[in-house]
Amino acid sequence: MPISERAVPRSLAALNRLIAAAPPMVTGGTRAVLGEGPLRPRLAFVGEQPGDQEDLQGRPFVGPAGQLLDRAMREAGIERRQTYVTNAVKHFKFEPRGQRRLHARPTAGEVKRYRWWLERELDFVRPKLVVALGATAALALAGKTMPVAANRGHLLTLAGRPAFITIHPSFLLRMPEEDRAPAWKAFTADLKQAHALSAAL
Ligand code: URA
Repeated sequence: MPISERAVPRSLAALNRLIAAAPPMVTGGTRAVLGEGPLRPRLAFVGEQPGDQEDLQGRPFVGPAGQLLDRAMREAGIERRQTYVTNAVKHFKFEPRGQRRLHARPTAGEVKRYRWWLERELDFVRPKLVVALGATAALALAGKTMPVAANRGHLLTLAGRPAFITIHPSFLLRMPEEDRAPAWKAFTADLKQAHALSAAL
């Protein structure tokens, strides 16, 4: 039965039990990595999917991309423990390569299959503003493709929620060294703007 046809759980804890018990809808992923943070925060951050470290530790954004996100939040004056952090896809999709597990991008179809969970999660969390980190999160929130470059940095409404799109921090890890400083500045400026916008909502 598609997950969207199941009864709506009555609480975030009940939703999380359902997610944790369900089989992955992508290849790989030993466990579901659930969102974490307080209810009714000013900001909720949505990433793509857990990575290798997140899958091992069972927490979102604790690997290299998470460390960058933490640093950017600090620079933007945002306290991570006051935000809610989650992912569009709840399992780590990977391809085994020898001893390593290489991140594999979820397809649009896979993102859409996880979307019902994300929607219900945000219904319970009720952030003032949802920040999509990258194109996969934007697709998950909007239900359609939202190119990051054309849509970043503005207050938007995605599927009825106040939302904001910026880059995924791992984009910074992949770019040539010489381009990183301006991209970092733009990323932290986006986070500052999202934080300021959330105060007015
Ligand atoms: N990248 C994501 O999108 N989410 C995580 O939790 C970690 C890395």
